[in-house]
Amino acid sequence: MMLNQRRHHILVVDDEDLIRDILREGLEQAGYECRTAADGLEALEILEHEPVDVVITDISMPRLDGIQLADRIYRSHSADVIVMTGFAENLSYEDIIARGASDFIQKPVGVREIILRLERVIRERTISSEQRRTEAELRSSLQKLRRVIGQTVNALASSLEKRDPYTAGHQQRVARIAHAVALQMGLPEEQAEGIRIAGILHDIGKISVPTDILAKPGRLSANEFNLIKEHPQVGYDILKDIEFDPPVATSIIQHHERLNGSGYPQGITADDIIIEARILAVTDVVEAMASHRPYRPSLGVDRALAEIAAHSGTLYDPDVVKSCLTLFEHQRDFFE
Ligand SMILES: [Fe+2]
Repeated sequence: MMLNQRRHHILVVDDEDLIRDILREGLEQAGYECRTAADGLEALEILEHEPVDVVITDISMPRLDGIQLADRIYRSHSADVIVMTGFAENLSYEDIIARGASDFIQKPVGVREIILRLERVIRERTISSEQRRTEAELRSSLQKLRRVIGQTVNALASSLEKRDPYTAGHQQRVARIAHAVALQMGLPEEQAEGIRIAGILHDIGKISVPTDILAKPGRLSANEFNLIKEHPQVGYDILKDIEFDPPVATSIIQHHERLNGSGYPQGITADDIIIEARILAVTDVVEAMASHRPYRPSLGVDRALAEIAAHSGTLYDPDVVKSCLTLFEHQRDFFE
């Protein structure tokens, strides 16, 4: 008798009354719920209306034989199938398993032997349903984790935008454009996603710049500009200990670097600037020029694209510029 366990439902299918009765009696004594059917069609009828965990079926039966039954169950039901084969059928193990059965047993069958097979099939069935449940739980917690990361990143970004309404939306638009440029360049989605996250946060270091400088309508003094120039380093310091998969903090510290070394804060050149930062650099300039600023109205997307094209290869990565221009030929709704 199986303790602490729900009773499993077994369906015995055989056209011989005597075999059905012997098996049913034996299975019931062993603690199983047992139904019987005289052929495949009768079995399918029961499967439609009742819960069945395992079907034990004869092969040679009128109307629908055991192999056809196994095939139908495999396609439309969740029950496992154990096939009882006689010498006359001459089917190989592979033949039977290929038709969707979980196991087979040679006739004449004894009740003890059937129960041993049944226990094995049920054990495997329980393990695989637990695996499926664990996988589903893992998938859903991973999705939740991704959602929480996305929400945290947005919350961090909006903390800056609360102080600096002029760049509200700037980071989100840079993120969208940079993600699209990365995909246009053929980078994998995971890397493009890292660039999107870096885009959302790329100016977070401006949180340390006084508000009156951020919102100043006129030209900045050298001192004021020096304060602004600290923002890539401050952003890096804020984010460097977060274990983002892609190099988010490095993308941010490098987003004002230029190929020819004229950028800041480190003045590094070409190959020392990671691709993520080279994409951010281009899209940051395009977005900034195409949007309104406290000290000037929008210069328009075309002026912005002309600017990056004019400095392709000197300030900006030529592959990034090319992909950005191609992208804007097809898609311009980033600024709506
Ligand atoms: Fe910036």
